[in-house]
Amino acid sequence: MMDKIETPDLSHISSSDYENVYEPAEDSFLMLDALESEIPYIKAIKPTICLEIGSGSGIVLTGLAKCLGSGCAYFSVDINSHAAQVTRKTASRNCVSLEVVNCDLVGPFLSRIQNEIDVLVFNPPYVPTDESEIDPKSPIALSWAGGLRGRKVMDRLFPLIPQIMSPNGTFYLLIVKENDEDDIFKVMKSYKWHGSVIMERKAGREYLKVLKFKHVQM
Ligand SMILES: C[S@@+](CC[C@H](N)C(=O)[O-])C[C@H]1O[C@@H](n2cnc3c(N)ncnc32)[C@H](O)[C@@H]1O
Repeated sequence: MMDKIETPDLSHISSSDYENVYEPAEDSFLMLDALESEIPYIKAIKPTICLEIGSGSGIVLTGLAKCLGSGCAYFSVDINSHAAQVTRKTASRNCVSLEVVNCDLVGPFLSRIQNEIDVLVFNPPYVPTDESEIDPKSPIALSWAGGLRGRKVMDRLFPLIPQIMSPNGTFYLLIVKENDEDDIFKVMKSYKWHGSVIMERKAGREYLKVLKFKHVQM
């Protein structure tokens, strides 16, 4: 029972909020289910810093933080300022302490988090689209439009993984089939990170997968 992630209370989020902030969907719930299946493992690595990139409504990190409890610091970032605000409200509504930053990936504090992150979670904009659909003026488009192969944003994060993750750090990434998991595994392998699929599910036209990455210890 203690290893269960309860879906956070999101009743404070209005339909007008969802005009600018990603509304939790099958991908969000698959990530929550995958993290729930990982709770014994996550507890065993004794995380002190968990970071979610692209928190949106805050559903994922708030759920994880509520389950893991207060022995860990929780940070989230989102490029969308509306999402950062809503994540703050979700954390407070669910009595969770979370630091939320409105920024692009980990840009402003990259040098401050070298080898510090124990658990990293990212449900990125993964839908393959035309580059022009990644419109900085549309917060909602930034939540799903992923450019070529849906890889535009996640590809910018991969080279940062060896820098920011702690020695036992674990990275959870949600993808769809079109993102090409074999190629993602190859890219991460070039940084000496090993990946595996820990959960997958068909949701309408999307085939969703959660990947787990760990540093290959020599
Ligand atoms: C698919 S939504 C996931 C939202 C939430 N984590 C969930 O699972 O419901 C992707 C999120 O990533 C954010 N995002 C997109 N590009 C980003 C970037 N470069 N840096 C930080 N966040 C980004 C979007 O604003 C959006 O909130």
